[in-house]
Amino acid sequence: MSEPIDPQHFRHVLGHFPTGVAAVTSCGDTGGPVGMTVGSFISVSLSPPLVAFLPGKQSRTSATILRNGRFCVNVLGAHQEPASRAFATGGDRKFDGLDWTPSPGGLPRLDNAVAWIECTVDAVHDAGDHDIVIGRVTSLDAPEPSLPLLFFQGGYGRFAPLSLAAAGEADLVEHLRLVDVARPIMEDLAERNRVECLASAAVSEDIVLLATAGTPAGGRTYSRVGQRLPHIPPLGTALVAWSEPATQAWIARAGDTATRQHDPQQLVDRVRARGWSVATWSDSLRKLESSVDDTTLHGLTPHGRRAVRQLVDQLGSEHEPDDLHDPNQHYRIRSVSVPVFDARQRVVMQLTVDGLPPDAAHADVDLYVTHLTHAAERVSRALPDTGQAASVPIAGGHR
Ligand SMILES: Cc1cc2nc3c(=O)[nH]c(=O)nc-3n(C[C@H](O)[C@H](O)[C@H](O)COP(=O)(O)O)c2cc1C
Repeated sequence: MSEPIDPQHFRHVLGHFPTGVAAVTSCGDTGGPVGMTVGSFISVSLSPPLVAFLPGKQSRTSATILRNGRFCVNVLGAHQEPASRAFATGGDRKFDGLDWTPSPGGLPRLDNAVAWIECTVDAVHDAGDHDIVIGRVTSLDAPEPSLPLLFFQGGYGRFAPLSLAAAGEADLVEHLRLVDVARPIMEDLAERNRVECLASAAVSEDIVLLATAGTPAGGRTYSRVGQRLPHIPPLGTALVAWSEPATQAWIARAGDTATRQHDPQQLVDRVRARGWSVATWSDSLRKLESSVDDTTLHGLTPHGRRAVRQLVDQLGSEHEPDDLHDPNQHYRIRSVSVPVFDARQRVVMQLTVDGLPPDAAHADVDLYVTHLTHAAERVSRALPDTGQAASVPIAGGHR
């Protein structure tokens, strides 16, 4: 006979398994909202669509949920620790100060949760001092592309991804397949150089941030993955500079703006000559960054596109300065980008090292460029030969 398991030891050992955190909500007997925090939420079956959570048999909220026969799982974001604490206490004041809206079936859906899954109770299985409640999914969505709250060894934390890739929107599928090859190489580069590494590509008339690796500088969040900006000068020069048709289309997209601060052809010439593209910090770039953060995820509205275009038009000398190595000039270099070629010498994406230290000397920048170029060459060698896959219009053209 084996030794009985000490409950404290059981808790301690099982605490080494990290979980996400969800608030399972429902409506009480008099219609008011009820909810409880769970770490035991799991996806069970795709066909039929089933999920489960394991409430303790003592839980009052669980008893209410089982009477109602329906529940809504709210996957909590990293910023929702207070909500998790509120739903983990007993009592009737768990929703105080929390904003929520009804789900399609009228159950409480917490604002700003990462995802919500509405279910009817399909089965309840007895499991020691807990139940296994199986829910059949009736509707679900993940409206907020933010990082989840985690629970590990009795404490809250957040997910620190090695890299993140954009969600598989229809026109990105082929690009994401290519960027998957790049991600381990990007992670390696980001970790070794303690910078953020980005992969972006030209998709239709946009430049799309496909994946990031490493920690963003300056406390930015990771939510920029999937972000789209109009691919017009001076953005994304390294994506067009190796193809005359791509360059011409890029310049034509810019149109004739009186406010333009640069000559696009000159930008292309400098990038071709250097082999890489550079952006330095400027107020215009900061303004663009701060105004585009959330609005540009999952595509631009016509209004958003016009507003962003105006900001891009105001960018100027911070892109591709030609006197980078002039000892009398001091630039605060923000990012450097290099093209990634496929086996047919077409530019399929660009890799960028972003958030260089403000005091990076020119020699340091050269080193980043060397490492970045080396990473881009590794990605090129690892890419599959997508000969016939030119069904994706790869914007960069040929070398
Ligand atoms: C991170 C975390 C995860 C939890 N996971 C579960 C769980 O999976 N099942 C459960 O019964 N209780 C879990 N709890 C505890 C319940 O939230 C808590 O006991 C319950 O909400 C008490 O209120 P009630 O009696 O109204 O249900 C968890 C608590 C925290 C903080």
